[in-house]
Amino acid sequence: MSTAVRFHDQHGEETESSFRDDVIAGLGRFPKALSPKYFYDERGSLLFDAICRQPEYYLTRTEEGILAAAAEEIAALVGPESLLVELGSGASRKVRLLLEAMRPTRYLGVDISRDFLLQSTRHLAADYPWLEVHAAWADFSQRLHLPAGVDGRRVVAFFPGSSIGNFAPAEAEAFLAELHRALPPGSGVLIGVDLVKDRAILEAAYNDAAGVTAAFNLNLLERMRRELGASVEPGRFRHRAFFDTQASRIEMHLVSECRQTLVLDQQRFEFAPGETLHTENSCKYARDDFQALARRAGYRPRAVWSDDDELFSVHYLAS
Ligand code: AVI
Repeated sequence: MSTAVRFHDQHGEETESSFRDDVIAGLGRFPKALSPKYFYDERGSLLFDAICRQPEYYLTRTEEGILAAAAEEIAALVGPESLLVELGSGASRKVRLLLEAMRPTRYLGVDISRDFLLQSTRHLAADYPWLEVHAAWADFSQRLHLPAGVDGRRVVAFFPGSSIGNFAPAEAEAFLAELHRALPPGSGVLIGVDLVKDRAILEAAYNDAAGVTAAFNLNLLERMRRELGASVEPGRFRHRAFFDTQASRIEMHLVSECRQTLVLDQQRFEFAPGETLHTENSCKYARDDFQALARRAGYRPRAVWSDDDELFSVHYLAS
Protein backbone atom coordinates (compact mmCIF):
# COMPACT_ATOMS: atom_id res chain seq x y z
CA MET A 1 0.00 0.00 0.00
CA SER A 2 1.37 3.36 -0.99
CA THR A 3 0.07 6.84 -1.59
CA ALA A 4 2.98 7.76 -3.86
CA VAL A 5 2.24 8.39 -7.50
CA ARG A 6 4.70 6.93 -10.00
CA PHE A 7 5.35 9.67 -12.50
CA HIS A 8 6.29 9.05 -16.15
CA ASP A 9 7.47 12.05 -18.14
CA GLN A 10 6.56 11.32 -21.76
CA HIS A 11 6.21 14.92 -22.80
CA GLY A 12 9.83 15.24 -23.88
CA GLU A 13 10.82 18.22 -25.95
CA GLU A 14 7.35 19.04 -26.99
CA THR A 15 6.65 22.09 -24.85
CA GLU A 16 6.89 25.79 -25.55
CA SER A 17 8.29 25.49 -29.05
CA SER A 18 5.40 23.42 -30.41
CA PHE A 19 2.87 25.90 -28.97
CA ARG A 20 4.80 28.75 -30.61
CA ASP A 21 5.14 26.89 -33.93
CA ASP A 22 1.48 25.86 -33.97
CA VAL A 23 0.30 29.40 -33.16
CA ILE A 24 2.43 30.83 -35.97
CA ALA A 25 1.21 28.19 -38.42
CA GLY A 26 -2.43 28.51 -37.27
CA LEU A 27 -2.52 32.30 -37.52
CA GLY A 28 -0.81 32.19 -40.89
CA ARG A 29 -3.49 30.12 -42.60
CA PHE A 30 -6.95 31.13 -43.74
CA PRO A 31 -9.30 30.65 -41.99
CA LYS A 32 -7.16 31.03 -38.87
CA ALA A 33 -7.31 27.99 -36.58
CA LEU A 34 -5.56 26.48 -33.57
CA SER A 35 -5.76 23.06 -31.88
CA PRO A 36 -8.00 22.95 -28.78
CA LYS A 37 -5.25 21.06 -26.95
CA TYR A 38 -3.72 24.47 -26.18
CA PHE A 39 -6.67 25.42 -23.98
CA TYR A 40 -5.26 23.35 -21.13
CA ASP A 41 -2.58 25.30 -19.32
CA GLU A 42 -3.14 25.45 -15.57
CA ARG A 43 -5.67 28.28 -15.79
CA GLY A 44 -7.41 26.64 -18.74
CA SER A 45 -7.70 23.35 -16.86
CA LEU A 46 -9.25 25.16 -13.89
CA LEU A 47 -11.66 26.99 -16.19
CA PHE A 48 -12.60 23.72 -17.87
CA ASP A 49 -13.32 22.26 -14.45
CA ALA A 50 -15.58 25.25 -13.77
CA ILE A 51 -17.33 24.75 -17.15
CA CYS A 52 -18.18 21.23 -16.05
CA ARG A 53 -20.10 22.68 -13.08
CA GLN A 54 -22.15 25.16 -15.11
CA PRO A 55 -25.88 24.39 -15.19
CA GLU A 56 -25.97 24.62 -19.00
CA TYR A 57 -23.07 22.17 -19.47
CA TYR A 58 -25.14 18.99 -19.10
CA LEU A 59 -22.35 16.71 -20.39
CA THR A 60 -20.43 16.17 -17.15
CA ARG A 61 -23.27 15.55 -14.73
CA THR A 62 -25.13 13.39 -17.26
CA GLU A 63 -22.09 11.22 -17.94
CA GLU A 64 -21.43 10.92 -14.21
CA GLY A 65 -25.03 9.76 -13.68
CA ILE A 66 -24.63 7.15 -16.42
CA LEU A 67 -21.32 5.87 -15.02
CA ALA A 68 -22.66 5.66 -11.46
CA ALA A 69 -25.72 3.72 -12.61
CA ALA A 70 -23.76 1.38 -14.91
CA ALA A 71 -20.64 0.84 -12.76
CA GLU A 72 -21.51 -2.77 -11.83
CA GLU A 73 -22.37 -3.69 -15.42
CA ILE A 74 -19.17 -2.10 -16.65
CA ALA A 75 -17.17 -3.97 -14.01
CA ALA A 76 -18.78 -7.26 -15.08
CA LEU A 77 -17.87 -6.61 -18.72
CA VAL A 78 -14.30 -5.61 -17.97
CA GLY A 79 -13.45 -8.18 -15.30
CA PRO A 80 -11.08 -7.69 -12.35
CA GLU A 81 -7.35 -6.96 -12.20
CA SER A 82 -7.28 -4.59 -15.10
CA LEU A 83 -5.02 -1.67 -15.83
CA LEU A 84 -7.34 1.31 -16.04
CA VAL A 85 -5.84 4.01 -18.26
CA GLU A 86 -7.61 7.35 -18.18
CA LEU A 87 -6.92 9.50 -21.23
CA GLY A 88 -7.10 13.21 -20.44
CA SER A 89 -7.53 12.42 -16.77
CA GLY A 90 -7.90 16.09 -15.70
CA ALA A 91 -9.42 16.15 -12.22
CA SER A 92 -9.73 12.31 -12.17
CA ARG A 93 -13.22 12.67 -10.77
CA LYS A 94 -15.26 10.42 -13.07
CA VAL A 95 -12.99 7.45 -12.57
CA ARG A 96 -13.91 7.46 -8.87
CA LEU A 97 -17.39 6.34 -9.91
CA LEU A 98 -15.89 3.13 -11.30
CA LEU A 99 -13.07 2.21 -8.97
CA GLU A 100 -14.96 0.45 -6.18
CA ALA A 101 -17.02 -1.64 -8.60
CA MET A 102 -14.15 -2.33 -11.01
CA ARG A 103 -11.30 -2.88 -8.57
CA PRO A 104 -8.51 -2.47 -11.13
CA THR A 105 -4.99 -3.35 -10.01
CA ARG A 106 -3.46 -0.24 -11.49
CA TYR A 107 -4.53 3.17 -12.62
CA LEU A 108 -2.63 5.30 -15.14
CA GLY A 109 -3.74 8.90 -15.60
CA VAL A 110 -2.51 10.49 -18.83
CA ASP A 111 -2.78 14.23 -19.30
CA ILE A 112 -1.14 17.14 -21.09
CA SER A 113 -1.42 19.46 -18.08
CA ARG A 114 1.41 18.41 -15.78
CA ASP A 115 0.60 20.18 -12.53
CA PHE A 116 -3.07 19.34 -12.71
CA LEU A 117 -2.21 15.70 -13.44
CA LEU A 118 0.11 15.46 -10.46
CA GLN A 119 -2.31 17.10 -8.09
CA SER A 120 -5.30 14.99 -9.08
CA THR A 121 -3.44 11.66 -9.16
CA ARG A 122 -1.97 12.40 -5.71
CA HIS A 123 -5.48 12.88 -4.36
CA LEU A 124 -6.58 9.67 -6.02
CA ALA A 125 -3.68 7.72 -4.53
CA ALA A 126 -4.48 9.11 -1.07
CA ASP A 127 -8.16 8.22 -1.36
CA TYR A 128 -7.63 4.69 -2.78
CA PRO A 129 -4.64 3.25 -0.92
CA TRP A 130 -5.24 -0.22 -2.43
CA LEU A 131 -4.68 1.14 -5.95
CA GLU A 132 -1.28 1.49 -7.63
CA VAL A 133 -1.43 4.94 -9.19
CA HIS A 134 0.69 6.07 -12.14
CA ALA A 135 0.70 9.41 -13.92
CA ALA A 136 2.01 9.97 -17.45
CA TRP A 137 2.57 13.51 -18.64
CA ALA A 138 1.91 13.09 -22.34
CA ASP A 139 0.03 14.29 -25.37
CA PHE A 140 -1.91 11.10 -26.06
CA SER A 141 -3.49 12.69 -29.16
CA GLN A 142 -0.14 11.93 -30.84
CA ARG A 143 0.31 8.35 -29.64
CA LEU A 144 -0.33 6.35 -26.49
CA HIS A 145 2.67 4.57 -25.01
CA LEU A 146 2.09 2.45 -21.96
CA PRO A 147 5.12 3.11 -19.72
CA ALA A 148 7.37 0.08 -19.23
CA GLY A 149 6.18 -2.14 -16.41
CA VAL A 150 2.71 -0.60 -16.29
CA ASP A 151 0.50 -3.47 -17.31
CA GLY A 152 -2.45 -5.51 -16.20
CA ARG A 153 -4.34 -8.61 -17.25
CA ARG A 154 -6.52 -6.41 -19.42
CA VAL A 155 -6.25 -2.77 -20.30
CA VAL A 156 -9.31 -0.59 -20.17
CA ALA A 157 -8.78 2.79 -21.80
CA PHE A 158 -11.23 5.21 -20.23
CA PHE A 159 -11.86 8.25 -22.41
CA PRO A 160 -14.68 10.20 -20.80
CA GLY A 161 -16.19 13.62 -21.36
CA SER A 162 -16.81 13.32 -25.11
CA SER A 163 -13.24 14.44 -25.71
CA ILE A 164 -13.38 12.21 -28.80
CA GLY A 165 -15.73 14.88 -30.17
CA ASN A 166 -12.84 17.33 -30.30
CA PHE A 167 -11.41 15.31 -33.20
CA ALA A 168 -13.01 15.49 -36.64
CA PRO A 169 -14.76 12.14 -37.38
CA ALA A 170 -11.94 10.90 -39.65
CA GLU A 171 -9.36 11.87 -37.01
CA ALA A 172 -11.46 10.20 -34.30
CA GLU A 173 -11.46 7.00 -36.34
CA ALA A 174 -7.70 7.21 -36.89
CA PHE A 175 -7.13 7.94 -33.20
CA LEU A 176 -9.25 4.95 -32.11
CA ALA A 177 -7.50 2.71 -34.67
CA GLU A 178 -4.12 3.83 -33.31
CA LEU A 179 -5.31 3.21 -29.75
CA HIS A 180 -6.44 -0.26 -30.87
CA ARG A 181 -2.89 -0.97 -32.04
CA ALA A 182 -1.41 0.29 -28.75
CA LEU A 183 -3.64 -1.91 -26.55
CA PRO A 184 -2.79 -5.53 -25.83
CA PRO A 185 -5.31 -8.20 -26.96
CA GLY A 186 -8.37 -8.55 -24.72
CA SER A 187 -8.47 -4.83 -23.96
CA GLY A 188 -11.36 -2.46 -24.29
CA VAL A 189 -12.27 1.19 -24.48
CA LEU A 190 -14.87 2.86 -22.27
CA ILE A 191 -15.73 6.10 -23.99
CA GLY A 192 -18.15 8.96 -23.36
CA VAL A 193 -19.77 10.45 -26.45
CA ASP A 194 -22.12 13.41 -26.56
CA LEU A 195 -25.30 12.80 -28.56
CA VAL A 196 -26.85 14.98 -31.28
CA LYS A 197 -29.81 16.86 -29.90
CA ASP A 198 -31.81 20.04 -29.97
CA ARG A 199 -29.73 23.01 -31.10
CA ALA A 200 -30.85 25.20 -28.17
CA ILE A 201 -29.55 22.72 -25.58
CA LEU A 202 -26.25 22.34 -27.41
CA GLU A 203 -25.66 26.05 -27.94
CA ALA A 204 -26.55 26.91 -24.33
CA ALA A 205 -23.93 24.39 -23.12
CA TYR A 206 -21.19 26.32 -24.94
CA ASN A 207 -22.50 29.80 -24.09
CA ASP A 208 -23.04 29.57 -20.33
CA ALA A 209 -24.59 32.63 -18.71
CA ALA A 210 -21.72 33.04 -16.24
CA GLY A 211 -19.26 33.47 -19.12
CA VAL A 212 -16.94 30.65 -18.04
CA THR A 213 -16.71 29.13 -21.53
CA ALA A 214 -15.97 32.59 -22.93
CA ALA A 215 -13.14 33.02 -20.39
CA PHE A 216 -11.83 29.53 -21.29
CA ASN A 217 -11.77 30.43 -24.99
CA LEU A 218 -10.19 33.88 -24.41
CA ASN A 219 -7.54 32.32 -22.15
CA LEU A 220 -5.88 31.05 -25.33
CA LEU A 221 -5.00 34.63 -26.25
CA GLU A 222 -3.84 35.35 -22.71
CA ARG A 223 -1.67 32.24 -22.90
CA MET A 224 -0.09 33.51 -26.12
CA ARG A 225 0.71 36.75 -24.33
CA ARG A 226 1.97 35.15 -21.11
CA GLU A 227 3.99 32.29 -22.56
CA LEU A 228 5.01 33.48 -26.00
CA GLY A 229 5.21 37.23 -25.43
CA ALA A 230 2.65 37.82 -28.19
CA SER A 231 1.31 41.33 -28.47
CA VAL A 232 -2.45 40.81 -28.45
CA GLU A 233 -5.38 42.44 -26.69
CA PRO A 234 -7.83 39.70 -25.57
CA GLY A 235 -10.41 42.40 -24.75
CA ARG A 236 -10.74 43.10 -28.46
CA PHE A 237 -11.96 39.58 -29.18
CA ARG A 238 -15.20 37.90 -28.18
CA HIS A 239 -16.24 34.28 -27.73
CA ARG A 240 -18.62 32.69 -30.25
CA ALA A 241 -20.02 29.14 -30.21
CA PHE A 242 -22.71 27.73 -32.50
CA PHE A 243 -24.02 24.37 -33.73
CA ASP A 244 -23.36 23.47 -37.37
CA THR A 245 -26.11 20.95 -38.14
CA GLN A 246 -24.53 19.66 -41.35
CA ALA A 247 -21.21 18.87 -39.73
CA SER A 248 -22.99 17.86 -36.48
CA ARG A 249 -20.60 19.89 -34.39
CA ILE A 250 -20.32 22.87 -32.08
CA GLU A 251 -17.73 25.29 -33.42
CA MET A 252 -15.94 27.69 -31.10
CA HIS A 253 -14.27 30.83 -32.39
CA LEU A 254 -12.58 33.97 -31.13
CA VAL A 255 -14.06 36.83 -33.12
CA SER A 256 -12.05 39.97 -33.72
CA GLU A 257 -14.15 42.99 -32.75
CA CYS A 258 -12.13 45.41 -34.91
CA ARG A 259 -9.29 45.58 -37.42
CA GLN A 260 -6.20 44.65 -35.43
CA THR A 261 -2.77 43.07 -35.61
CA LEU A 262 -1.38 40.32 -33.41
CA VAL A 263 2.41 40.37 -33.30
CA LEU A 264 4.45 37.31 -32.44
CA ASP A 265 8.21 36.93 -33.00
CA GLN A 266 8.16 40.02 -35.24
CA GLN A 267 5.54 38.39 -37.44
CA ARG A 268 2.33 40.36 -37.93
CA PHE A 269 -1.03 38.64 -38.19
CA GLU A 270 -3.83 40.90 -39.38
CA PHE A 271 -7.42 40.37 -38.29
CA ALA A 272 -10.26 42.03 -40.23
CA PRO A 273 -13.29 43.11 -38.16
CA GLY A 274 -15.42 39.97 -37.57
CA GLU A 275 -12.62 37.62 -38.68
CA THR A 276 -12.28 34.60 -36.43
CA LEU A 277 -9.69 32.30 -34.98
CA HIS A 278 -11.34 28.85 -34.99
CA THR A 279 -10.41 27.27 -31.66
CA GLU A 280 -12.48 24.10 -31.30
CA ASN A 281 -14.90 21.64 -32.85
CA SER A 282 -17.01 19.45 -30.63
CA CYS A 283 -18.67 16.74 -32.73
CA LYS A 284 -21.96 15.19 -31.67
CA TYR A 285 -22.94 11.67 -32.72
CA ALA A 286 -26.01 9.50 -32.98
CA ARG A 287 -25.36 6.21 -31.13
CA ASP A 288 -25.35 4.08 -34.30
CA ASP A 289 -23.08 6.45 -36.16
CA PHE A 290 -20.53 6.29 -33.37
CA GLN A 291 -20.71 2.50 -33.24
CA ALA A 292 -20.16 2.35 -37.01
CA LEU A 293 -17.10 4.59 -36.62
CA ALA A 294 -15.77 2.35 -33.84
CA ARG A 295 -16.24 -0.75 -36.02
CA ARG A 296 -14.28 0.87 -38.81
CA ALA A 297 -11.49 1.51 -36.28
CA GLY A 298 -11.36 -2.23 -35.48
CA TYR A 299 -13.55 -2.55 -32.36
CA ARG A 300 -16.57 -4.64 -31.46
CA PRO A 301 -19.11 -2.41 -29.70
CA ARG A 302 -20.30 -4.45 -26.72
CA ALA A 303 -22.58 -2.11 -24.77
CA VAL A 304 -23.92 1.41 -24.74
CA TRP A 305 -25.58 3.26 -21.88
CA SER A 306 -27.37 6.59 -21.91
CA ASP A 307 -29.60 8.75 -19.72
CA ASP A 308 -33.41 8.89 -19.98
CA ASP A 309 -33.30 12.13 -21.96
CA GLU A 310 -30.79 10.69 -24.46
CA LEU A 311 -28.38 13.56 -23.90
CA PHE A 312 -25.18 11.55 -23.58
CA SER A 313 -23.86 8.04 -24.25
CA VAL A 314 -21.13 5.82 -22.82
CA HIS A 315 -19.88 2.98 -25.05
CA TYR A 316 -17.84 -0.09 -24.20
CA LEU A 317 -15.82 -1.17 -27.23
CA ALA A 318 -13.95 -4.47 -27.15
CA SER A 319 -10.67 -4.39 -29.03
C1 AVI B 1 -13.05 18.55 -23.49
N1 AVI B 1 -14.15 18.71 -24.42
C2 AVI B 1 -14.90 17.48 -24.59
C3 AVI B 1 -15.03 19.85 -24.14
C4 AVI B 1 -16.19 19.89 -25.16
O1 AVI B 1 -17.33 19.94 -24.73
O2 AVI B 1 -15.91 19.81 -26.36
C5 AVI B 1 -14.26 21.15 -24.17
C6 AVI B 1 -15.14 22.35 -24.04
N2 AVI B 1 -15.12 23.37 -24.83
C7 AVI B 1 -16.02 24.24 -24.43
N3 AVI B 1 -16.65 23.77 -23.40
C8 AVI B 1 -16.10 22.58 -23.11
